[in-house]
Amino acid sequence: MPLTRTQIQQLVRLHGQEILCHEHMQIERVCYQHGVVTTFAHSIRVACLAVWIADRLHLWHRVDLHSLIRAALLHDYFLYDWHAHDGGRHRMHGFTHGGTAMRNAVRDFHLN
Ligand SMILES: [Fe+2]
Repeated sequence: MPLTRTQIQQLVRLHGQEILCHEHMQIERVCYQHGVVTTFAHSIRVACLAVWIADRLHLWHRVDLHSLIRAALLHDYFLYDWHAHDGGRHRMHGFTHGGTAMRNAVRDFHLN
C-alpha cells in the first residue's frame, strides 16, 4: 500500500528534525523561493516529493531514506534571499547556489 501524504510528512519531520530545527534553517522561513513559497516550505515539498517518488517507484531497497530526506531538505541551503542577493542582480545565483548550499550544509551538519 502506498504511503499517504500524512505518512510522508511524518517521515520528513522524523528524518529531517535536526535540519528543520537548526538555527540557520530558520533563515529559509523568511526567504522566498518561488512566488509566495518560502525556501523552507519549498525544501519540505522537495523532500516529500522525493519520498513519494521513491515509494511509488518501489525503490526502498535502493534508497537510504534518512539521507534522501536530508539531502532534499538541504538542496537549497544557500541561506539568503536570492531576490535581494548581489544587489538585486542575482545573475549568478542559478549557477552558484548549489555549491553555496553544499558548503553551508557541510559546515552545519555531519553528512555522509
Ligand atoms: Fe529547489
